[in-house]
Amino acid sequence: MRYLIANWKMQLSEPESESLARGVVQRWAGEGASADGVSVVLCPSHLALERVASITKGTPVALGAQDAFWMDKGAYTGEISPVTLRELGAEYCLVGHSERREFLGETDEMVNRKTLALLKHGIVPVICVGETRAEREAGKRNAVVIDQVRAALDGVSLVGAQTVVVAYEPRWVIGTGKAVTPDDAAEMHHLIISALHDLLGADVAERQTAVIYGGSADSSNLAAFLAMPGISGTLVGGASLKQDEFAAMARITADAARA
Ligand code: 13P
Repeated sequence: MRYLIANWKMQLSEPESESLARGVVQRWAGEGASADGVSVVLCPSHLALERVASITKGTPVALGAQDAFWMDKGAYTGEISPVTLRELGAEYCLVGHSERREFLGETDEMVNRKTLALLKHGIVPVICVGETRAEREAGKRNAVVIDQVRAALDGVSLVGAQTVVVAYEPRWVIGTGKAVTPDDAAEMHHLIISALHDLLGADVAERQTAVIYGGSADSSNLAAFLAMPGISGTLVGGASLKQDEFAAMARITADAARA
């Protein structure tokens, strides 16, 4: 499976989210692009989920959320239950995005609890991992990222059709317009895939996990990323806000799926 996941962050108003979702759905269907082997996912803000769901429902475009809490219900002011996300039609949910780790103090333990809760409710967690520039410069890239993967998947065993996506997003290239090289990303993907094999067993890791790249991915560099072994797709911020650009990325992802 190839993934193209749009993370709209806190960039759009509700009407803007609705209009962009409509455009994406029309373009993706209108291209005559085969949805086979490609998951195009839109992750709007929580408040826009319902509007976007009404547009993506019954189409090949899937709905994702940007975060979830780990409890089903209770006195957790401001939080959103995975049960609610499921009711709204979310099939995917980002977990541990670097912006949440940085600005909201999200820890590996919280990421793990969220991952377990989402799997319980049949939502695919898209677990975001990645090193800071300082960590990379200190030679700690591999250790930091693999520790994040191991912590997120502590106690996880995938049953039935449960799926986990890991998004490798080097934090220091997010939003800069300068991605890491495809070789650099592929090296990290290889290590993450090895860790997934260790943690979940080779069979399950092969069938039920995918590793995708995020960080200044756009239509100019996407094909090169997707050509690398182990890179199964992209998690896209800035470029996902532009309809033409995102449609081009969907076409490139479909081409890679057919190749
Ligand atoms: P950019 O594509 O804007 O670098 O953002 C990446 C990201 O954070 C997606 O989650």
